[in-house]
Amino acid sequence: MSIEKIAVLGGGQMGAGIAEAAASRGISVALIKATPGPSDKAKAGIEKGLGRLVEKGKLSADDAGAIVSRITFTDDLNAAADADLFVESIVEDIAIKKQKFAEADKIVKAGGILASNTSTLCIGDMQAATERSDRFIGLHFFNPATMMKLVEVIPTDSTDASVVADAVAFVETIGKTPVLVKDRTGFIVNRLLTPYMCDAIRCLEDGLADIAGIDTAMQLGANHPMGPLSLADYIGLDIVNAMSENLFEAFGKDYMAPPALLKKLVAAGTLGRKTKLGFYDYSERPPVPNKELG
Ligand SMILES: NC(=O)c1ccc[n+]([C@@H]2O[C@H](COP(=O)([O-])OP(=O)(O)OC[C@H]3O[C@@H](n4cnc5c(N)ncnc54)[C@H](O)[C@@H]3O)[C@@H](O)[C@H]2O)c1
Repeated sequence: MSIEKIAVLGGGQMGAGIAEAAASRGISVALIKATPGPSDKAKAGIEKGLGRLVEKGKLSADDAGAIVSRITFTDDLNAAADADLFVESIVEDIAIKKQKFAEADKIVKAGGILASNTSTLCIGDMQAATERSDRFIGLHFFNPATMMKLVEVIPTDSTDASVVADAVAFVETIGKTPVLVKDRTGFIVNRLLTPYMCDAIRCLEDGLADIAGIDTAMQLGANHPMGPLSLADYIGLDIVNAMSENLFEAFGKDYMAPPALLKKLVAAGTLGRKTKLGFYDYSERPPVPNKELG
């Protein structure tokens, strides 16, 4: 089956990014907002990002308009009814995701594929909330979804081979590279990357160096494009915390558990870039290390 129309549930940073990435390659998208609040935020964010590309001469204004026109912005889950592929990208909470999948299962057409963009939850757990285990798969995008080339493709033991093939073809159609991974918490990238970010936070807790020092060391010493604390802010500290908790629960290794400082920041609503404060203060240009954290 060729995937020509998708529905994305969740208009947060990843959901909006996935919608834009697909619409940029000619796919029709219903971007479905999952929580109450102003409905134009995702649209405004996508338009702003495309506007920057137009300003830089990387995209014509007509093409930017065409991308936005391929996306229907709605808060009605029924907009997923005729989707070939439904991609869930809401808060990293298994109970909420299961509930939404149970609802979507009743709405999305019989031949449609259900997929989750979870970072660390098990695909099999979500699949069990639906009556189409054979048409359920993980499609793990990376942030920003418009730029990052990798998509981890995670079939379970019950996923039909044709669904895997269709999902791989879709990922390639939108210009990304699929890597097949088994359904184990964290898949490949987050199983390796989350403990690394948590260890960087522990280095800060230990007073090994300051925020800028830790990030500069890894940028210049390991040739990483971004230091681990900047990266955690970029991903969202709530997401990093949830990934860390899920990895610890799955594998029971101390080094995977969230550090106290991460938990404290998340409890205070200090979530990184999206709240303008994390390890860095994004109200300043360029961002400066958060003075409260030394
Ligand atoms: N941030 C990343 O780098 C990244 C990368 C890959 C995958 N993911 C995964 O993508 C998913 C979304 O993450 P994000 O970074 O876009 O987060 P975000 O905070 O930007 O967006 C969260 C989304 O969840 C919805 N939501 C919040 N509470 C809800 C509730 N009670 N019921 C239903 N929906 C609710 C919000 O409306 C919003 O659409 C998560 O599963 C995350 O693990 C994140």
